[in-house]
Amino acid sequence: MNILITGSSGLIGTALKESLISMGHTVFPMQRSESCIEPFYWQPSENIIKFDESIQIDTVIHLAGANIAGGRWNDKRKKIILDSRVIGTNLLVNALAKLQNKPKVLISGSAIGFYGDTGDGWVDESSNPGTGFLSNVCQRWEKATEPASEAGIRTVHMRIGVVLSLLGGALKKMLLPFKLGLGGIVGNGSQYMSWVSIDDITSMIQFIIENETINGAVNLVSKNPITNKAFTKTLGSVLSRPTVFPLPAFAARMVFGEMADSLLLSSTRVFPKKLSEAGYKYINDDLEKTIKSLLSK
Ligand SMILES: NC(=O)c1ccc[n+]([C@@H]2O[C@H](COP(=O)([O-])OP(=O)(O)OC[C@H]3O[C@@H](n4cnc5c(N)ncnc54)[C@H](OP(=O)(O)O)[C@@H]3O)[C@@H](O)[C@H]2O)c1
Repeated sequence: MNILITGSSGLIGTALKESLISMGHTVFPMQRSESCIEPFYWQPSENIIKFDESIQIDTVIHLAGANIAGGRWNDKRKKIILDSRVIGTNLLVNALAKLQNKPKVLISGSAIGFYGDTGDGWVDESSNPGTGFLSNVCQRWEKATEPASEAGIRTVHMRIGVVLSLLGGALKKMLLPFKLGLGGIVGNGSQYMSWVSIDDITSMIQFIIENETINGAVNLVSKNPITNKAFTKTLGSVLSRPTVFPLPAFAARMVFGEMADSLLLSSTRVFPKKLSEAGYKYINDDLEKTIKSLLSK
């Protein structure tokens, strides 16, 4: 199968490319460039996109977007985060919709931030969107794919949870302070974190490609969201380190600004209803085993 990936150089894209190639697929990265000799390239900020129509693409996986945790959320940064997703998605899907031979499926990025702060209550794909900047980004990001579904392309919105990998993302950032014995709960520690291992992310995407009945929003999370307190205890215990240095909410807000509320202090307890109903089998659904397996690689 020929698979086109945007954002292929990122944390998920890098792991996904490797895994799809090992399954025998041919992967084409959508390169970000204005003048590129590659068959597929784009420059979303310049509204430039080029498809080599002599190559029949079966699946498009759209991961591109400016890193959410890549800097303090001032107005400029928020615009970059939003525009890179909404303008980029518009550009991509309008090009896909015009192709003579359209791909069968578009698997497009979104995040569990869609649900906002949901406290202790479970949410699934049928739950309403929340409020706040991240939820607004996710809603507009998902809506931007409409031209693809209108053109008859099966369209899936991956509502991705906190991806655990040692190569990037939240766990990598936490590892050094925890290893130094400086880890601790954030805020009061009661907020839920809906996590997923990087191995499951790549396997879930393959499952979605193969299961043609899966459509619309899909939660890519483990079945076991965990409170920040329990996560802290588990990571400290796997690393055999104390976790006695809490980061109070006011300090998190001072250091990270608005990002602290959305990424560190808000609680989202997400259930992967669609994947469970479709029979997806987890590689790793237990936090302690997942962290141990990542550290052993
Ligand atoms: N990792 C997580 O925990 C997590 C959780 C929820 C949702 N997600 C979403 O899933 C997607 C992939 O996640 P990831 O962790 O792999 O992200 P990532 O490591 O930040 O990679 C995103 C990729 O997007 C491209 N990109 C960066 N800035 C861009 C811009 N301004 N305009 C267009 N493209 C840009 C880059 O790829 P190229 O240089 O190859 O173009 C980059 O490698 C993201 O959209 C992210 O928001 C991730």
